Amino acid sequence: MRNFVFHNPTKIIFGVDTTEEVGKESKNYGKRILLVIGQGSVKKIGLYDRVVKLLKEEGLEIFELEGVKPNPRVDLVRKGINMVRENNIDLLLAVGGGSVIDTAKAIAAGLTYEGDVWDLFKYRKPIKPTIPIGVVLTLAATGSEMNGNAVISNLETQEKLAISSPYIYPKFSILDPKNTASVPLNHTLYGIVDILSHVFEQYFDRVDDAILQDRFAEAIMKTVIETTPKIIKNPEDLNARTTILWCGTNALNGIIGVGKEQDWATHAIEHAISAIYDIPHGLGLAIVFPHWMKYVSDVIPHKFANFARNVWGITGDDDFEVGLKSIERLIDFYESIGVPTKLSKVGINDEKLEEMAEKATQFGPIGNTKKLAKEDVYKILQMCL
Ligand code: NZQ
Ligand code: ZN
Repeated sequence: MRNFVFHNPTKIIFGVDTTEEVGKESKNYGKRILLVIGQGSVKKIGLYDRVVKLLKEEGLEIFELEGVKPNPRVDLVRKGINMVRENNIDLLLAVGGGSVIDTAKAIAAGLTYEGDVWDLFKYRKPIKPTIPIGVVLTLAATGSEMNGNAVISNLETQEKLAISSPYIYPKFSILDPKNTASVPLNHTLYGIVDILSHVFEQYFDRVDDAILQDRFAEAIMKTVIETTPKIIKNPEDLNARTTILWCGTNALNGIIGVGKEQDWATHAIEHAISAIYDIPHGLGLAIVFPHWMKYVSDVIPHKFANFARNVWGITGDDDFEVGLKSIERLIDFYESIGVPTKLSKVGINDEKLEEMAEKATQFGPIGNTKKLAKEDVYKILQMCL
């Protein structure tokens, strides 16, 4: 295992009805709050009214940035930065899913940068200390509620790029499973695919002796796979929602990735797809991951064998053979829950494969398990068709 520093500063407030804490918690960071929300779901489920009431009870002043779209746009981030400057905001409060949280993080990062915020993504300019972010999470998926990453799309350049900084971890995140019960089934399942994919990115690498991390990763995968049918059967099953919510946070809060090399090529490929075709992130991952697995399985056959035996219960002596079966089992699982695993099933043909491969590798070869150049990505995308 490699040496590591683990420092995750986000305070997690977890459980049914913890939304009630939002006023008191926010008050710790000042008086003027910019509420960042999406396209209306939080209003429909009554969460918006509840949060506003709780903030007002603490005497806080509320400003509002509404309209964050899935695959959140840099234009709205720019608008948010102006609002923070004009209104002397103390705290950004994201109430929503990963797209809303990432918008708040990008606003925070852009605020203390003298140029245009997109430079942070495109030219990887350094991110400086900034104002605090708080979160009320409504969708189990990205782990953004407990990490320092943000992913933003630029429609003009058709790019979707990420930043990462210790300064944009949320100060606190309220994880109330009740707030996730209304997520439509398709987005619930895309979230579940995203959670599994975060585990894959950290599990399928070349570090073999991070045993605890890999066992924890296997536990998350098994738990997610076992719990998904319960949510499909009853989307309001609060126990199942609670379980998935905590899996999502643990899949990308750093804990299963410490001491590991990790890969992340599949995320880069997916971001190139959703930058052009604006498909949900989890859907893109369900398509790319099994094909990436087939492309790299010869490098780490023992890892795929562990995945087969420890997660799916597949038996057999030949590591490579059982490993291949595990990939087929994953495809079957996704198809069985109604999530497609081919680009053609979401209306994408071979027209822009070259452009996607170029975008995915614009900063150089991607991934660690097998370094992927543009030609490799092109081949994987062809397999996805
Ligand atoms: O816009 P609203 O009305 O809020 O509706 C959203 C949206 O349509 C809806 N929704 C969310 N909570 C709901 C709800 N509908 C009913 N009830 C609720 N409680 O769900 C839809 C999807 O929301 P979104 O925030 O886009 O989903 P998600 O949380 O999956 O976030 C996806 C974004 O995060 C990025 C992805 O690339 C994508 O842009 N990622 C961020 C990461 C990070 N910061 O660490 C890592 C990930 O790998 C990922 O790349
Ligand atoms: Zn993801």
